[in-house]
Amino acid sequence: MLKRYFSSTREIPPSAKTPRHIAIIMDGNGRWAKKRLLPRVAGHAQGVERVRDIVQACIERNVEYLTLFAFSSENWRRPEEEVSRLMELFVMALEREVGKMHRNGVNLKVVGDLSRFDQRLRDLITQGELKTAGNQRITLTVCANYGGRWDILQAANRWLQDHPGGELSEAALTPYLSMPYAPEPDLFIRTGGEQRISNFLLWQLAYSELYFTESLWPDFDAQALDLAIASFQKRERRFGRTSEQLVER
Ligand code: IPE
Ligand code: IPE
Ligand code: MG
Repeated sequence: MLKRYFSSTREIPPSAKTPRHIAIIMDGNGRWAKKRLLPRVAGHAQGVERVRDIVQACIERNVEYLTLFAFSSENWRRPEEEVSRLMELFVMALEREVGKMHRNGVNLKVVGDLSRFDQRLRDLITQGELKTAGNQRITLTVCANYGGRWDILQAANRWLQDHPGGELSEAALTPYLSMPYAPEPDLFIRTGGEQRISNFLLWQLAYSELYFTESLWPDFDAQALDLAIASFQKRERRFGRTSEQLVER
């Protein structure tokens, strides 16, 4: 079922105590491994374990949408060895986890330019999405070979193909972006201490609350998630209005 989409710049989204949509940059795997004198890929493997825990924690907290940045369009710049190990891990995670996700009511979506992935990985993605398509407890979107600029450009290009010579508007573009089924993220979390967006959801983060933590992704647990949610709950989401206007509502 397609839920109603609120654009934070065109109307004021309903406020909620629990974020409906959390988007996370899972950063710090390499440093986690380095601290333990392990290869970087050991950090990525540990990171996959955290994904399982955080999905579960989000289900328990009634978060409706969880979006995870797994591989950016710029991560191809990494050493070939690390990129291929990451692809193997992605395959393994899908093989191992999709059944469990399905039993837990997870609706899995993978967004990004998937054309660069090999056929085996693409098939697993399609199968995982199809198998879990009817689930409604949580929508888990994994962003793979994703870039915020790529997303805006692919949306604009697809819109133009459908409307040659037309004039693009915000409302017209939204359904063409890669997550039209989800509201904009209420809470953005970046682990690993860096305070940047790194070409994640550029369009959709317009009014998200930003939360940065030093915690490395393989250490990020349910308790750390609760700290992020507690910080979110203290924020005043004004969407351009004054504090006084919020009190009057
Ligand atoms: C994030 O961890 C995972 C991916 C980008 C795939 P990193 O691998 O970037 O870890 P650090 O930032 O080097 O510690
Ligand atoms: C962002 O992390 C991408 C993912 C977590 C998938 P990076 O480690 O690639 O980001 P930068 O290079 O430090 O900005
Ligand atoms: Mg990093």
